[in-house]
Formats: sequence, structure tokens, C-alpha cells
Amino acid sequence: MKNYKEEIAKLIAAEVSELSVEDALGIIEVPQDQKMGDYAFPCFKLARILRKAPPLIASGIAGSLAEKIDFARVEAVNAYVNFFVKREDLTGAIVNEILTQKDAFGSSDLGGGKKVIVEFSSPNIAKPFHIGHIRSTVIGNSLHKIYKALGYDVIRINHLGDYGTQFGKMICAYRKWGCREDVEREPIKSLLSYYTKFHVEVEEHPELEDEARAIFAKLEKGEPEEVALWQWFREESLKEFSRVYKMLGIEFDSYNGESFYSDKMPAIEQELQEKGLLQESQGAQIVDLEPYGLGAALIKKSDGSSLYITRDIAAAVYRKETYDFYRNIYVVASQQTLHFQQLFKILELMGRDWAYDDVHVPFGLVSLPEGTMSTRAGRVVFLEDVLKQAVEKTRGIIAEKNPEAENVDEIAKQVGIGAVIFNELSNNRIKDYVFDWDQVLNFDGETGPYVQYTHARATSVLRKAGEEASAKAAVPGAADASYLTSDNAYDLAKLLYAFPGVVELAGERYEPSLVTRHIVDIAQSFNKFYHDEHIIVENEAEKNAKLALVIATRQSIKNGLALLGVEAPDRM
Ligand code: ARG
Repeated sequence: MKNYKEEIAKLIAAEVSELSVEDALGIIEVPQDQKMGDYAFPCFKLARILRKAPPLIASGIAGSLAEKIDFARVEAVNAYVNFFVKREDLTGAIVNEILTQKDAFGSSDLGGGKKVIVEFSSPNIAKPFHIGHIRSTVIGNSLHKIYKALGYDVIRINHLGDYGTQFGKMICAYRKWGCREDVEREPIKSLLSYYTKFHVEVEEHPELEDEARAIFAKLEKGEPEEVALWQWFREESLKEFSRVYKMLGIEFDSYNGESFYSDKMPAIEQELQEKGLLQESQGAQIVDLEPYGLGAALIKKSDGSSLYITRDIAAAVYRKETYDFYRNIYVVASQQTLHFQQLFKILELMGRDWAYDDVHVPFGLVSLPEGTMSTRAGRVVFLEDVLKQAVEKTRGIIAEKNPEAENVDEIAKQVGIGAVIFNELSNNRIKDYVFDWDQVLNFDGETGPYVQYTHARATSVLRKAGEEASAKAAVPGAADASYLTSDNAYDLAKLLYAFPGVVELAGERYEPSLVTRHIVDIAQSFNKFYHDEHIIVENEAEKNAKLALVIATRQSIKNGLALLGVEAPDRM
């Protein structure tokens, strides 16, 4: 596929010997207003080098390039050189490219098979898997898909929160107030209720604390009874999590959570000791990170039990040894930013030069219209309930909009769950946001259902055109792009042309919302084209070209949705 920007950069660099192609690439802009061309080269920076007024430089470059360049037009406007691509050139080429690449359009081999770890979701067992967890789950899943599309070998890790002193409390509480059948029926709600009761009771009976501590010590020593209970809690919780992952269409390559590292911690502590990084502080072991403005990291409590960060050090070292990653990405809430700064700094101080290949991808808070979530106050929205409700609500909307729809169950699932995922990935990840049903399921807003509906609409245009005409239009190279030069067709084609670059940028910035927003733009542009122009026209060549653009658009939307982990139904 022709790279217009690069072509312009090369030409400019050839004109102005003081500029490298790289420099020129950095200066070229994409104007907001189509009237200013497809690309623009501002000459302000050159003024100092060439000691000439920018408009003079611009007209010089434009004059000289006009002869040499295979563009529709090159013109100087004030300090800018504006480049107008030949419309049929671009539309023809991009439609062709997409029809050839099909599902692979947007993908590349940029990553060259290098290993990237994406750690995401990582809920705590025996705790609610709530709407707050959806962010890591969905952002991480999309990043995995984006990196895969960019040619990386991606490993998905669910670093389950399945260890720590709280399990001493949990086992203690279960023994006192628990009931096996309840746990089997509703594991997380039951375990949570015992755990909550523990916290109430401990106010009156502080000795429970010691009891719980002793139980956790037994668990750490591997006493069979404690281990069996803990294992059971873990399995029951995982069953519940798995239901949600299945609904979301999400899988992992590894569920190595915190407990997996319990036997790998002594080696880490020893290394920290040997490297002179451990200090004693009130009976506990810490790494002093004060010189770096990162406080102190507590490595081992005074009672000898290990901590969250210690397990994370062990996990990072294990991952490097096991996968020899190029990049190790943690998709975890921004509240844990300090934790990851400490973790990466400790790895660096341990002399692990790959510490710089570890990346924390933070995200903001989700809250409910009635306030932030709080387990204690009972203000928890279980993710599973949200997904089920989304499917139900969607079923209702479909029944109303399209009473004859077939396959309603399947479509309601694809659209309802797609809507929740899409909504999650619509905003810049670092922003806090309020979960709002009306916004999630709005078929007309910039939502998942809207984009899916546009995909279904494109499919229906092809259905109406008939199998034969659609098959003919799908042949690469068959479209006469001179029929695709209207503003509508060209705007749409330009968005399709930009798609692979957007995928690359989304990977670079760990920002799936760039893809989300881009496919909303494509959908809006397509709908304008669809409303303003006749697609199935008498003229065969025109019809063929327009249908090719419809197929290319449909394919791009489908590929974009796939990168988000959202399905693209053909009817809805
Ligand atoms: N289980 C943790 C929580 O729910 C998230 C784990 C993040 N990952 C990590 N490697 N520390 O807050």
C-alpha cells in the first residue's frame, strides 16, 4: 500500500537538502479541513535554517514539486504547502488492499514474533468479580489482540489474587460460620459473607486475629487441611470467574497467580539480602526507596509472612526466565501506580536490566451513578449481573425494533455484551467514568450497538445487491475507482486508509480507545455515504465500485471490532 506521507517527505527532503526524510515526516500534518489538502507541510521551522520568510519557502517548494509529483494538486497557501492526493488513486488502492487482506487488514509484522506478556484481569479469589474489574479485563484483552495483530507473540496471564493473610481469615471464618452447600451454590457471595462477618466479629473478639494468623502460617507451611480448603475456595471462585470470561469471550494462557510464587520468595529475599537492598525496620524487612521518592517497600512482615510486592518481584523474575519477554505489560488500576513504580525500581536495583521492559498500563475508576463501589456498604455490582442484564435489555430493544428478527438469543448476546465491552473501551483509559445503562445501550450514540448496526447495514446492502454482484465486487482490482471520488466516498476511504496506522498507535500508547473511536468515525462516515448516495445503481461499473467500498468498510469495521473483542453480527 502506497504511503503518501512518506512519499511527500522524500520529495521534500530532496528539495531541501537541510532536511532529512525523518525530519520532514515529523513536520507533515494532516489538515482538519479537506480544503487544505490531504497533507500539509508547514514551513515555519525551515525559516530559520533557510533565512527566508515561510510563505516564500512554501511557494518555492510548491512550484518546484508541482512538476514532479503524481498528486492531483500541490499548492502553497501562506506558510503551508498543501498536497491533494488523486482521489481515485487512494480509494482504488485502499479498497484493493482491504479486499486482498480481508481479516488481516490492519495487521502487520511489526512485532516480528517478539514475546509480549499482557497481564490482565487478575481478580482476587473469594471476592466479588465486580464492574470495577471489567476495565482491566477488557482493556487487557484488547491489548492482547492489538499486539497479536501487530505481529507479537502474546502471552495472556491472569495473576490471580489467590494468596495472602486474608486467606487465614477466610478459612477461620468458614470453619466458624460456613456451610459447604452454600459455597458450592454461590461461592463468592457465601465466602464474602463469612469474611465480612469475620471483620464484624473481630471487633468484639480480637483473638480471632491471632487465630487467623496461625491458620495462614499453616497454609504457608503446606498443612494439608488448610491447603485443601484454600484450594477449594480457589477452584470454586475460578468456576465463577470462568463463567464471566466465557460470556466475554476471553481466555488466558496462564492462571499463575500470587500463590504460584509462594515457594519462589525465599530466593528473592536472599538475593535482596545479598545485594544489600534489605533493611530492618521495626522487625520487618523493607527496601528503602526514599532516595527515589518512592517511600519504603515492605518485603516481609515482622511475623515472617510475605507480601504482595514480594510475590510480584518473584513473578517478574519468573516471567523473564520462562518467557524471555520483550515487554511485560501490567494492566492494573491507577491506584496501584506507586506499587508498580516500587516494583520496577527494585528490579532495577537488583541489576535486572530488563526492568525497563516492564510497563504499567493504568486506568481510572468506574463508579455507579449512586457513588463509588463499596463492598462494605453493599454497593457492589457484579460483573456477571451486568452482562446478563445487558443481554436482557438488548433482547427487549431488538424485540421492539425488529419483531421478526430470527436468532434473537444469539444477537442479544453479541450486542448486549458487545455494548458493555465497547463502552468500556470508548474513553481514554486513564479517565474515571460513571457506568450508565442508557449510554451503553444507545443504538444511535457513539456506541457498540451503533457500530454493529452499521456493520449489519453494510451486510444488508450486499444482500440486497445479490450474491452475484457482491461476489464480483469483492474481487480485488475490479473496482473502477473513478466512481469513488465524491466527498462522501473519499472521506470514508481516507478513514479506511488510516486504520492500520491507528492500530499501530493504539499498541504504542496501550490505548484501545483509539481503535474504538476510529471505527465510530468509519461507521459515521459510512452512514453518511449510505444516506447521501445511491449504491445499487443502474450503471454496472459504478455499482461495482460502490459495492467494493461497502465490502471494504464492512471488513474494516469487523476487524476493528475484533481487536476490541466485540462480535460483528450480520443482522440485528
Ligand atoms: N489482584 C489485584 C487486585 O485485584 C490485582 C493484581 C495486579 N497485578 C499484579 N501483578 N500485582 O487489586
